[in-house]
Amino acid sequence: MLDVDKIREDFPILKRKINGYPLIYFDNAATSQKPIQVISAVTEFYEHHNANIHRAVYTLSQEASELYEKAHEEVASFINAKGIEETIFVRGTTEAINLVAYAWGLHKLRKEDEVLVTLMEHHSNIVPWENLSKIRGFRVKYARIREDGTLDYQSLEDMISKKTKLVCVSHVSNVTGVVNDVKKIAKLAHEFDALVLVDGAQSAPHMPVDVKDLSVDFFAFSGHKMLAPTGIGVLYGKRELLEKMEPFHGGGEMIREVSYDSARDRCSISWNELPWKFEAGTPNSCGGIGLMEAVRYLKNIGMDNVVSYEKELTDYAADRLKECKKVTVFGPKNPKVKCGIIPLNVEGMSSHDVALLLDSYGIMLRSGFHCAQPLHQLIGLKSSARASFYIYNTKAEIDRLITVLQEIEQA
Ligand code: ALA
Repeated sequence: MLDVDKIREDFPILKRKINGYPLIYFDNAATSQKPIQVISAVTEFYEHHNANIHRAVYTLSQEASELYEKAHEEVASFINAKGIEETIFVRGTTEAINLVAYAWGLHKLRKEDEVLVTLMEHHSNIVPWENLSKIRGFRVKYARIREDGTLDYQSLEDMISKKTKLVCVSHVSNVTGVVNDVKKIAKLAHEFDALVLVDGAQSAPHMPVDVKDLSVDFFAFSGHKMLAPTGIGVLYGKRELLEKMEPFHGGGEMIREVSYDSARDRCSISWNELPWKFEAGTPNSCGGIGLMEAVRYLKNIGMDNVVSYEKELTDYAADRLKECKKVTVFGPKNPKVKCGIIPLNVEGMSSHDVALLLDSYGIMLRSGFHCAQPLHQLIGLKSSARASFYIYNTKAEIDRLITVLQEIEQA
């Protein structure tokens, strides 16, 4: 079980009042709040251990390097990767997906190939593929979604073929909270010798993720949505794939040797070992250390407890929202296929107006397209207001949301 009162004590920001009301933070799909343990780990790093990693023999640099490597180990174990060689630290999910596009796709994809993407993807799992297809000439195909926002698996099966080289799918939709069966998709893709890239931005923070069990080839997620600082995220990749891939960015840290050949007037370069081959330049060390602390915090609670608590909150909210006459909730009716995210609209109001009115009562939620315009287009929505939950949210906060929505309805 999860002790929410105790958890709430760890989040200093939850003591704030906004517009005279206690802060209710329901925009966790955009970014999560940070516990004092993470804030302190970052401060402690700068107060006691700060130095550039992997570049010097002195004590501080050794300490910083050890901490940063340990952070990779903790994250690898969190997702059950084989080790740090499969755990690349990047800026976030967007950079992770772009890394796959440009370090793998740019070199592997040919004109006759296809990349299969679902129509429920966040823009960060659409735009890199459309951009790259302009350079490489391959076709991007879009698996359909059903009216309730769930994936049409049949359409995915119909579209996949020997031409498909990569299937890109989100584990959990950032708009509807729909959970996709990525294990099943990976099995299907592998039957066609295609690779699978999973956008795990909305799943890794909220449910147990075991990349070996899912059998996916790439899995991307962001630290800031799971209690860690912004600017740090992870790309998991199968070792044998990462080893064969070209680097993404070139510069310091990612090389083993650069040697100048005066006869040819050229430099020849060999790459560093994994994961550093993909971590060019001075890394976001304090972000990595913050992510390690965030992962420890979540492990301590237990991801099974996280997912079941959020499910309880989501079901409770979905049930109570039925009491709001002018509120429409989008997404699947079957609660088994969704988690922690509720998109809604209030009759006669734009989603931004709803969000602004709720803000005047201290309730924060996101409005707009949530970086997923095709999905909104397909379910016939101009935009939506979105409530998304995390471990520190409570049923009492949901009750307050319902009361305020009912006041708004009557205004
Ligand atoms: N991807 C984030 C969201 O869904 C920013 O809000």
